[in-house]
Amino acid sequence: MAKKIAVLVSGGGTNLQALIDAQNRGEIVGGSITAVIASSPDAYALERAAKAGIPGFVLARRDFPSARAMTVALVEKLRSLEIDLVVMAGFMVIVTEELCQAYRNAILNIHPALIPSFCGRGAYGLHVHEQALAYGVKVTGATVHFVTEEPDAGPVVLQKAVEVREGDTPEVLQRRVMEQAEWKLLPRAVSLFCQDRLQVEGRIVHILP
Ligand code: GRF
Repeated sequence: MAKKIAVLVSGGGTNLQALIDAQNRGEIVGGSITAVIASSPDAYALERAAKAGIPGFVLARRDFPSARAMTVALVEKLRSLEIDLVVMAGFMVIVTEELCQAYRNAILNIHPALIPSFCGRGAYGLHVHEQALAYGVKVTGATVHFVTEEPDAGPVVLQKAVEVREGDTPEVLQRRVMEQAEWKLLPRAVSLFCQDRLQVEGRIVHILP
C-alpha cells in the first residue's frame, strides 16, 4: 500500500514542485503526495498543489491562540488524512512537540545548509545564506533530516555540498543551493522513506540497499 505523504509549506513551494515533478517521473517509489498543508492562504505553493490536482489545506497560525493549539489541529488533520509521512518543504512555522510525538521519525525537513552549520533558531530562508557568506565558507549545501523537538537537530538523512562562488549574493547562492541540492535531495529522501529504506539508530540514519 503506497504511503500517504503530506507536504507542509509556507511560501513559494519550489521544494513541493520538485516533489511533484519527481512523482510525475515515477521517482517517488512507494508513496503518493496526498495533501499540501499551508501555513498561509497566500502561499503560492497552494497554486502548485491545485495545478497538480493535490488537495490543499490552510492551517494559519493566526487562527489559533497558540503554537500548541495550531500543532494539535495539524496533528488531527494529518490523522484524518491517514498520513504516513510528513514533509516540511519551506515550512516556516514553529510547531510544538505534539507533532514529533505523533510522527516519530516520520517527519522530514529540508534545510538549506550543511547541518550543524548555519541552523537552529533564526537560521531560515535567506538568513541561512547570509550567514554562510558572512562566515566566508567555500562550501555550503543542503540537508534532509528527521524532525525532532529541537529545531534542525534531528538525525541527518541526506546531504549535498554546493560551492560558494566569488561575488555570490544571498539570493544567487540560495538559488544554486535549491537547484543543485534541495530539489535533488528531498525527492530522494522521500522515496527512500516510502521504500522503508531509512533505519534510524540513535543519531545515525542507515540507508538500506
Ligand atoms: C527556501 O529558503 C529554501 O531554501 C528552504 O525554504 C525556503 C522556501 O522554500 N527550504 P520553497 O521554495 O517554499 O520550497
